[in-house]
Amino acid sequence: MNIILLGPPGAGKGTQAQRLEKSRRMVQLSTGDMLRAERASGSDLGQEVQAIMDAGKLVSDAIMIRLIAHRIGAPDARAGFILDGFPRTVPQAEALDVMLGEKKLPLSHVIEMVVDDAILTDRITGRYTCAKCGAGYHDRNQKPKVDDVCDVCGSNQFTRRADDNAATVTQRLQAYHTQTAPILPYYRAKGILRQVDGMAAIEEVGRQIEAILTSAPGVLKS
Ligand code: AP5
Repeated sequence: MNIILLGPPGAGKGTQAQRLEKSRRMVQLSTGDMLRAERASGSDLGQEVQAIMDAGKLVSDAIMIRLIAHRIGAPDARAGFILDGFPRTVPQAEALDVMLGEKKLPLSHVIEMVVDDAILTDRITGRYTCAKCGAGYHDRNQKPKVDDVCDVCGSNQFTRRADDNAATVTQRLQAYHTQTAPILPYYRAKGILRQVDGMAAIEEVGRQIEAILTSAPGVLKS
């Protein structure tokens, strides 16, 4: 099964994608993670996108479409993938349709995680991840079971993202509302858009997503 998790920065896309990787063995395809890996490697692409990401703006459609086209056809994605952070503009959504059509990969659900802007800043500024395995945590909402020890790999090294500050969050939210939210009617018209309450507790959001995934797939209208 292939799905898209859609929602503003801090909505919980990465958190739920990681849960689905464990429970359903689907593969998380996070374009944010791909870009951060490029930055960490010091590649030309990484250097090109650094200032754009740190300003909370969107990287160009051409770069993003190239990046995801390369990843979506990889063997590990054949068992089912969760798109997290892509598509983020209508041209990206249209390009994804073409890609999936060419590869004969069906899209079952587009799940919108609905969260009020007011709580997103707190979620984002409190977020941190394990530097070794990438498991996600939050200062208040999702602490490791043992202080300063990763639940998954036992590491005591954690990291925070350069764009997780209050000033950049404002710009990222603006980008979401002006450039990404117009995707919603695009998928609604195709009959595959579903919603979950992204303000519920993490476990409850997971239950709502699971209920969607076990229901009949949306009927894709061309
Ligand atoms: P990206 O990495 O995709 O960031 P984002 O969309 O801003 O989303 P986040 O990762 O911030 O949030 P999330 O929804 O995954 O929330 P999380 O689960 O971590 O993109 C970064 C940048 O890359 C972009 O700004 C852009 O520059 C560029 N980019 C990437 N893709 C692009 C594209 N396609 N086109 C153009 N540019 C692109 O949760 C957040 C925190 O809240 C965590 O600490 C978590 O523990 C906590 N939390 C989660 N759920 C709950 C809950 N239900 N209750 C309480 N706390 C919760």
